[in-house]
Amino acid sequence: MRVLIIGSGGREDAFAWKFQKEDKVSHIMICPGHKGMKRFDKVELWESSLLGDYSSLAQKAVEKEIDLVVCGPEAPLTQGLAKFFEDESIPFFGPSESAALLEGSKIFSKEFMREFEIPTAGFQVFDRYEDAVAGLEAWPVSSGIVIKADGLAGGKGVVVTTDREVAQKTLFDFMKNPEVSIHSDRILFEHILPGEEVSAFALCNGEEFFFLGMACDHKRVFDYDEGPNTGGMGCYRDPLWPDADLKEKIIQKVLIPTLKGMKERGHPFKGILFMGLMINSMNEPFVIEYNVRFGDPEAQTLLPLIKGELAVALHQLSTQAKIETPLTLSEETSVHVVMTSGGYPSITKDQPMSLNHKIEIPLLTHEDQPLLFLAGVNRNEDGQYINTGGRVLGVTAVSEGLETARKMAYKGIEMIHFKDSHYRTDIALNRRGGLKSDQ
Ligand code: AMP
Ligand code: GLY
Repeated sequence: MRVLIIGSGGREDAFAWKFQKEDKVSHIMICPGHKGMKRFDKVELWESSLLGDYSSLAQKAVEKEIDLVVCGPEAPLTQGLAKFFEDESIPFFGPSESAALLEGSKIFSKEFMREFEIPTAGFQVFDRYEDAVAGLEAWPVSSGIVIKADGLAGGKGVVVTTDREVAQKTLFDFMKNPEVSIHSDRILFEHILPGEEVSAFALCNGEEFFFLGMACDHKRVFDYDEGPNTGGMGCYRDPLWPDADLKEKIIQKVLIPTLKGMKERGHPFKGILFMGLMINSMNEPFVIEYNVRFGDPEAQTLLPLIKGELAVALHQLSTQAKIETPLTLSEETSVHVVMTSGGYPSITKDQPMSLNHKIEIPLLTHEDQPLLFLAGVNRNEDGQYINTGGRVLGVTAVSEGLETARKMAYKGIEMIHFKDSHYRTDIALNRRGGLKSDQ
């Protein structure tokens, strides 16, 4: 089987690592990938310019006899990438442009959840700045408000606050301020959901699903959830939380109605459904958001736990109604710690990232534990790795217990060095399902 992966981060590196180990996969093509992926001998990298021209990309896939396409990031999915491959009869594991609206428009997804009675926070939608200002006047901000810009914003289009001045400024920034990179003519207000966050993942073919598993991401850049939001600084999966009872509630109250609703709307959901959930004190799940692809770093956390041939299963899901190849998720725990460049997430121009430093990576290989996944890296003329992106790499450890997995992951990350590098020291600590800091 010849697989094409779209993307270039740690998530796509983890897909490449998984496919590299699978007997049925003979070739892994990645567009654009990064040079570190060449450490897998089945990998061939395609030029990044193809991502600016989906017809040429699909044409190249025809020439290279690609059997399966897997897309990591959301943007190509919301831009309708699926159709270019489907027009060439190449199996594509990902949603259509219309189904990708579940992630592409926060307002679409909230209205969808209201129609199909999927539990989520109460909300209001505004299309005009003046109406939003009036709506804010009437909102009990001291008990909390979440303001969201519609559309993709890479995690930067959400502000959670109890401060009226912050809320007013956010409204102005999102709707009126030309100096701010996020702009939206449509705005969403939501009530704050209390509880603990967890991400749940299902592989779907439009009707049926395989419930892959759940993982907890740490989004803030510094320990104890301080500092700005990032794409994800680390992640853990503990089979003890959420438990089987909660998993069943998520399937019955969120996953099944979502697939049924999308089918009823005429846009059956095919691909990885990522349910961002808040679990309240009564152990009830509420949807914070949907994403229409695997998470990063959730992929680096869960893919090492999958038993079975993933490429075969994704091919089956892309082309037929049933998965005949059984996939299972190991009962073990895994912990993933991300190492970033200094300055990440570099929200403003006066905080540039510290890039292009040589990375010392002793001993770690992609075959032994802990596992190393590369993301924002390149190789210089001497073949040495240098850091070229915000999230540079990550280390995953899999073990019977969370404490051992955590120790192993940190032992791995402590072996890696480059100038101004940063990682959180509290991954898998102080969370529900996680360890307590005195353990
Ligand atoms: P989103 O981009 O919608 O996932 O939001 C980013 C982050 O904001 C989430 O991961 C949550 O931590 C937080 N958030 C978003 N909506 C809510 C909500 N209604 N209640 C509490 N926290 C929220
Ligand atoms: N880790 C969160 C995301 O991939 O959106």
